[in-house]
Amino acid sequence: MCGIVGYVGKQKASAILLEGLKRLEYRGYDSAGLAVEHDHKFEIAKKVGRVEILAKLAAQQRLSGTTGISHTRWATHGGVTDANAHPHVSSDGRFAIVHNGVIENYVGMRKFLIGKGYTFASETDTEALVNLIAYHYQKESARPDTSRFLESVRKTLHHVEGTYGIAVLCTDQPGEIVAARKGSPLILGVGDGEYILASDVAALISRTQNVVYLKDGEIVHITPKNFSITTLDLTDVSPVIDRVAWTVEDADLGRFAHFMEKEIFEQPAALENAMRGRFSEDQSSANFGGLNLTPADFRQIDRFQFCACGTAWHACLVAEHLIERFARVPVEVDYSSEFRYRNAPLYSNTLFFVISQSGETIDTLAALREARRKGYKVMAICNVVGSTIAREADGGIYQHAGPEIGVASTKAFTSQILIAAMFALYVARMRDMSFSDGVQYVQALKQAPDLVRKALEQAPRIKEIAKRYARHRDFLFLGRLSLFPLALEGALKLKEISYIHAEGYPAAEMKHGPIALISETCPTVFFAPKGEIFNKVVSSVQQIKARKGKTIVIATEGCEFPPGLADEIITIPDCHEAVLPIVAAVPVQLLSYYIAAELGRDVDKPRNLAKSVTVE
Ligand code: G6P
Repeated sequence: MCGIVGYVGKQKASAILLEGLKRLEYRGYDSAGLAVEHDHKFEIAKKVGRVEILAKLAAQQRLSGTTGISHTRWATHGGVTDANAHPHVSSDGRFAIVHNGVIENYVGMRKFLIGKGYTFASETDTEALVNLIAYHYQKESARPDTSRFLESVRKTLHHVEGTYGIAVLCTDQPGEIVAARKGSPLILGVGDGEYILASDVAALISRTQNVVYLKDGEIVHITPKNFSITTLDLTDVSPVIDRVAWTVEDADLGRFAHFMEKEIFEQPAALENAMRGRFSEDQSSANFGGLNLTPADFRQIDRFQFCACGTAWHACLVAEHLIERFARVPVEVDYSSEFRYRNAPLYSNTLFFVISQSGETIDTLAALREARRKGYKVMAICNVVGSTIAREADGGIYQHAGPEIGVASTKAFTSQILIAAMFALYVARMRDMSFSDGVQYVQALKQAPDLVRKALEQAPRIKEIAKRYARHRDFLFLGRLSLFPLALEGALKLKEISYIHAEGYPAAEMKHGPIALISETCPTVFFAPKGEIFNKVVSSVQQIKARKGKTIVIATEGCEFPPGLADEIITIPDCHEAVLPIVAAVPVQLLSYYIAAELGRDVDKPRNLAKSVTVE
């Protein structure tokens, strides 16, 4: 959840670290800090607040070193204070560390180290780690200088229970960083005469697109001339240099006020990218290069299990609807965190799917590992190439949606739904869906980007509605069938970024509780698409109206909605059932975005939330 950036090169490290931190701020943002090594000493700046506050502090301190590490923090152990901000320095002043993750056995370590005379300046688990490195360094005094730093980190990590992504500096070894990971991502960018270490590619793509994705249990030792990777148990690793497809422009705000707004408007392109090259030659089915399963393997599968968190969990619910509806194969959906601990009985011919934009969500990663431990194959739908989940899965489908920076997921969500819709088609065509129905379905999916463009044209009208409704403190979102998950998603979006209480329900369930909330001050957002349940939704709207509730209805074009019944109608283009949840997402994304913007909220960095949740 926190962000790490490290630099070894010839440039002034502080400027490069600060630029990287700015690009990572969405991962965690309660404090920020950096340490650069200069003349066998550390120059340190750290402060509660955003990276811009750190930048001002760093400017006053005129940091001149060319090797450094830095961090944006999302507090776990210890409150949000300057002292708890990273980097942390060992009490002998020799090591500085930045750390993502949680050291579960830090209390015992701390006690041990206090007994040995080490002192502590913060409440963090991280400080125990850096002091333990200093302790092992003392013990390794007989070793040659070239390996002593690396070995003391390695020895320390052998004692750690928990998760970490760390980067460490040592005053005795200028120009060097030792970094390691277990459960928290770390990527090494290999630039022109320089190395950039980061927890997220967004932080390094302005300097290089050549990267090495570190694996759990690996340690990298970076020096001004080269780098080497080994495992915790001393095996050499030959690094594979990958090329990142994202460019720095993809991660820039451009003409938009917020990344969330930019990403909402990027959806047509993200959908095009998710479909590119993924339809069969006869245009009646889908193709997925990365599933690593043959059609014969698929014939054996009679159930799917999906796991995810947050918005990706809503995408799983849509996947459930589409797969069951079109392929007639049963689907189970679980929160990753629940699946992991509740030991649910599983059918044998089940194929697992996890959905994760970041590919780093710890609960989803743990669900994947649990399913694999039980002998199931796990497929991953991920956006971030090379992410831990993508690498640990048996196969998968990349979203190619480009970097998603806004904490509230938008383009990743609709692209996950589109992939689920394509997957439903793929399975359906292996079963009962006819060639001509398949062709029709493909044609419908191909229209999705244009239909979303059309839905986006409603932005000015939704902005006006948002202005009128922004001061309400409670909202209900109601939808049925494939749009029930959209009701959940609409409520989540509003909560996340505007801090307004909102609930999502299946429309007909409204009578079993939520209707008690209805009053003039609690508006209801209804999904009312054309089709067999349209009249049922109209009567639900009537029931709300009869209780003086305000209603905002999202209806498909051409719907005969009784005049005067709804307070506001937002129209979305009429479309195929498989595309409807994608198109219907647009108005609720825009509504929550404009409400949050109207209230002056920090849309891209909502309080207490982080983009990628890498702690349990
Ligand atoms: C966080 C984010 C959500 C996201 C969820 C799952 O809560 O704020 O936007 O949906 O994590 O993230 P993932 O990367 O696994 O899709």
